[in-house]
Amino acid sequence: MISQRELLKRAIEARKKAYCPYSGFAVGAALLCNDGSVYTGCNIENASYSPTNCAERTAFFKAVSEGKREFLAIAIAGGRKEAKELEACYPCGVCRQVMSEFCDAEQFEVICGVSEDTLEVFKLKELLPKNFIL
Ligand code: THU
Repeated sequence: MISQRELLKRAIEARKKAYCPYSGFAVGAALLCNDGSVYTGCNIENASYSPTNCAERTAFFKAVSEGKREFLAIAIAGGRKEAKELEACYPCGVCRQVMSEFCDAEQFEVICGVSEDTLEVFKLKELLPKNFIL
């Protein structure tokens, strides 16, 4: 299985595709499925702002739309578009809720890249102790 560091590298690579002309903040994500496959995503902004999709949700929606339903971890890399250096980028509340729909919150790992070689790892449960359920 791919390491946390390798997964972050995939997120850093995906960040290069970010479409973020309005915020100038580029984010990449790499989502690891339980079968070992990896789906990447970037943020995709819109002139009307609210249709913007975060990198994490892009990765989830790509994977789910390809039939994947079980996930182990997601790595996230964010920072100013022009800067090579990353900034700490924790997932927004909407993305945490999307993660909670498909993941075991006590197992699923959220790997945040603070820099290319500094990771902060959380369990989803820590980031979203109480998700919305129907
Ligand atoms: N963004 C993400 O893609 N993921 C996050 O976890 C936080 C924010 C994006 C949305 C928007 O395009 C830009 O970063 C600034 O908010």
